[in-house]
Amino acid sequence: MMPDPAPVVRRGPEAWDDAARIARAWDPEEVADARGFARRAGRNPGSTVLVAGAGSGAVGAALGPILAWNEPSGRWLSLWIPAGLHATAQARALWREIVAHGAGHGVSHLRMQMPVDRGADMAYLAARGFVEIERSQRVSLRIDVEPPPVVAPEGLELITLAARPELFGQILEVDREAIPDIPGDGADVPSAAYWRARLDDGTYRASTTVFVVDEDGRALAYAVLHHHAGRDDVADHDFTATRRDARGRGLAALVKRAQARAAWAEGVRVLRAYNHLDNAAMRAVNDALGYIRASDTASLRWDRPPA
Ligand SMILES: CC(C)(COP(=O)(O)OP(=O)(O)OC[C@H]1O[C@@H](n2cnc3c(N)ncnc32)[C@H](O)[C@@H]1OP(=O)(O)O)[C@@H](O)C(=O)NCCC(=O)NCCS
Repeated sequence: MMPDPAPVVRRGPEAWDDAARIARAWDPEEVADARGFARRAGRNPGSTVLVAGAGSGAVGAALGPILAWNEPSGRWLSLWIPAGLHATAQARALWREIVAHGAGHGVSHLRMQMPVDRGADMAYLAARGFVEIERSQRVSLRIDVEPPPVVAPEGLELITLAARPELFGQILEVDREAIPDIPGDGADVPSAAYWRARLDDGTYRASTTVFVVDEDGRALAYAVLHHHAGRDDVADHDFTATRRDARGRGLAALVKRAQARAAWAEGVRVLRAYNHLDNAAMRAVNDALGYIRASDTASLRWDRPPA
């Protein structure tokens, strides 16, 4: 008997719609969408989307830049292999293509997030050489009814970036104090250009970036949401930060409550967050605000074996 022909791997724009379909079947909360892939592809030529096989036998993946950690030689991997397809020819073809694409773009390592309760995926990734480097909780809050207005305490004001664009520079000041304090793998402090690019392409919105400001106009805390190109109803807390000298006064919780109301007005109905398990302060804030914890997620890393 002749062996089956190797499955065709489609890549780039011709794989976008199928990859989004596979991703959402894999996880209904997935935010992958053709418009999101297009947004990412525009930003980074080393990004790609791959689909191997067809119909219900198809498996998919996406590779994107690792901007937060400023790792130009690494890529974020999203991998969507439906249950029962891990040992198939299409899964093997997909992995070969991921490795080949990486080699063609000077990629030294891959990172990805995987919910730890996805046993078949975790085993598949371990067998390919991925190792766990840290663990986070995944939490989410449904906002099914309009959150009530949030009143700032005496002497403080809640304000969005849309209402006061000149607060932009203070984001970078707060970040310089807050980002080094996030437990785990150290993220880079984003530049003004990083922020501008995200505000321009709609990943961040000035209308849902909320500050608490004191009487002198000093931003004490702020929170920004990551909006997804294809899912207006789901947004992720990219970052919540309080200046060091203003912590422990309830300001993170305050900006997040005001932000939930701003997000509601933008059509967001689910707010999601990922918190390193050692981030006791952020976890306490989310807990107090009623966020519900799902299965924890592992941060995994794969390093290209030496040639
Ligand atoms: C996380 C952060 C935004 C919290 O800001 P904040 O304005 O101090 O937060 P709040 O005052 O609203 O609440 C802090 C809560 O954490 C609790 N907390 C603080 N440190 C804690 C610790 N080590 N263990 C347990 N709880 C702790 C406080 O008791 C408080 O809870 P309570 O209101 O139930 O008492 C701030 O610490 C920060 O900027 N950290 C660095 C950036 C960061 O990690 N951002 C989140 C990335 S996912």
